[in-house]
Amino acid sequence: MNKKDLLYQGAEAKICVSKYMDFDVVEKRRIPKSYRIKHIDNRLISYRTKEEAKLMIEARNKGVSVPIIYDIDLKNGIITMEYLKGSRIKDIFNNLNETEKKNLCLKIGRNIARFHNNDIIHGDITTSNMILVDDRVHFIDFGLGEKNGEVETKGVDLHVLMEAIESTHSKYSEYFKYVLEGYKKELKGDANQVIKKIEEIVKRGRYR
Ligand SMILES: Nc1ncnc2c1ncn2[C@@H]1O[C@H](COP(=O)(O)OP(=O)(O)O)[C@@H](O)[C@H]1O
Ligand SMILES: [Mg+2]
Repeated sequence: MNKKDLLYQGAEAKICVSKYMDFDVVEKRRIPKSYRIKHIDNRLISYRTKEEAKLMIEARNKGVSVPIIYDIDLKNGIITMEYLKGSRIKDIFNNLNETEKKNLCLKIGRNIARFHNNDIIHGDITTSNMILVDDRVHFIDFGLGEKNGEVETKGVDLHVLMEAIESTHSKYSEYFKYVLEGYKKELKGDANQVIKKIEEIVKRGRYR
């Protein structure tokens, strides 16, 4: 194993750059929590690692770009995956021109529909969790994801992105409509039902 460079340190996980055979990879390592009972913590870490990897593999099989998984270490809570050498959407979005922003949002919407078509819920769709490599949007961080076919859950999944765009790219919040446009084009079910849910969630928030 080569020298590991820390790329990112979060509360739940640490991302290190490393090598796996000849590939540049990142290792996503879940951080043990000392306030949790040790064997419960171990089980939780191993469960979440497994769930995240399963969703990534399924998303990839359904045509969504996600990092290739090279290794899963359930005991230590480590997923070794392809290092995406691209740009986080969060870092580039504001600097794109109007057409580029629109096209990117259409593409994001199409991709979300692809995993929703298979009842894959990402759970944390933000512009930090999307990396653009060449002209392909890759999704990372399925750590809060699940399999769920309910319209409500799909609505919540999209609403998270709506709020992320409103807070991180507030000048461009109207571009979310293009996410929905792309979503509608690709979704196999009735996208309007999902969109209605988003509207309900927004209303609920307003009158809370
Ligand atoms: N496969 C990858 N390739 C390149 N960068 C990555 C990759 N996975 C994670 N990162 C970087 O690390 C950050 C945190 O990873 P993420 O899986 O989102 O962890 P967390 O669950 O803590 O948010 C991402 O925002 C991204 O910048
Ligand atoms: Mg993340």
